[in-house]
Amino acid sequence: MSARIVRPAEGLVGTARLPGDKSISHRLAILGAIAQGSTELVNYSPGRDCRSTLDCLRALGVRITLEDAGGAPKVTLEGRGLGGLNAPTGELDAGNSGSTLRMLAGVLAAHPFESVLTGDASLRRRPMRRVIEPLEQMGATLAAREGEFPPLRIRGASLKPIDYVMPVASAQVKTAVLLAGLHAPGTTSVEEPMRTRDHTEIALEAFGASVTRERRRVTVQGQAVLRGAQFIIPNDLSAAAFFLVAGLLLPKTNLVLPQVGLNPTRAALLDFLLPQGAQVKVLDVETQQGELRGNLHVRGGGALKGGVIDGALTANLIDELPVLAVLGTQTEDGLRIRDAAELRVKESDRLTAIAENLRRLGARVEEHPDGLDIPGRQRLRGAAVSSFGDHRIAMAMAVAGLVAEGEATIEDADCVEISFPGFFDVLQALLE
Ligand code: S3P
Repeated sequence: MSARIVRPAEGLVGTARLPGDKSISHRLAILGAIAQGSTELVNYSPGRDCRSTLDCLRALGVRITLEDAGGAPKVTLEGRGLGGLNAPTGELDAGNSGSTLRMLAGVLAAHPFESVLTGDASLRRRPMRRVIEPLEQMGATLAAREGEFPPLRIRGASLKPIDYVMPVASAQVKTAVLLAGLHAPGTTSVEEPMRTRDHTEIALEAFGASVTRERRRVTVQGQAVLRGAQFIIPNDLSAAAFFLVAGLLLPKTNLVLPQVGLNPTRAALLDFLLPQGAQVKVLDVETQQGELRGNLHVRGGGALKGGVIDGALTANLIDELPVLAVLGTQTEDGLRIRDAAELRVKESDRLTAIAENLRRLGARVEEHPDGLDIPGRQRLRGAAVSSFGDHRIAMAMAVAGLVAEGEATIEDADCVEISFPGFFDVLQALLE
């Protein structure tokens, strides 16, 4: 539980070393595990969450090798084929990772054995009814503490396909249902209240499954044959977001964020910042295996307007809201965030964590049940802030520390390892 000190900076200069995309890494590992033949994943996320997915898959009998190619891991999985996982001998530990737990629940629901998915104290407080309901409709039996929280006990079955209308916008739940649907005869459809990240749909196609999409509805053809494949995973835009925002706020920035994933369902950060005058150039854009990627060139110091984030924009910026809240304090008009009650059930209650930390840094913030009001043009003063054990809060507060006066101490900062091992070293190397 070590603390990190962050001092004011004038700019970020150079090229940032970024981790592979966490969302894509989880999905490709799980699909590789249930495909036929071997799958090679270059630039697999080095974060602990994606390690948890590999550990769980190993415990289900998947042979996995991991080469640490200079901090950009290369993972090779020997697929077991659809329905071919082994019963685990103990509990499956998803650590801090909601994605691991919810997505694997979809696969395990289709295997005829009992398994238990659990995780750390944070994950054991997160809601699971949202995956329990559709998977029970498909024929699996699931039990959770108080009907909601992990450990999640799953008795798998031969599933039947469903047409599921999701009450919450969650790409993890969508993925769990689609993965379960892959094992069922016929077609399984999921309709989401708003479009969420579509990495699963793209990955399914790349593995050879048949997926159709009409607006907010995705349909997968069950009992498909997935074929192992080779992927180069783009860098994680949600990790790059901390450097992007910090870079924009610091006048001397001249920063390159290389090979960042720019999938349109993930790139709302750019859609939000560019019209406000953010100096970001998107260069060398290309698509590989259905996923768009490119290099971002960031210049700092320009005025940013701020504004309102609500509705579908909130859903599409969900992981970037902690760092955008910090940016809000430095905008001309401030930032109003709404429809973000989901932030209360992430790795921490992110609305409270942000509000409390920004106040410790001397800012005014108003907390609402589903959002925050953050006035603009505020001066931040270095102080001790808490990560609340949440990687994105720790990194957002590091950004706040760069624009604050004096020294900021981020307590319990090791949690950055969840998605971005070496975050503070990468930051240090860019400081001007
Ligand atoms: C993710 C979906 C989002 C996001 C999480 C990753 C994914 O969660 O916050 O960091 O990879 O599908 P929800 O599905 O709970 O909205």
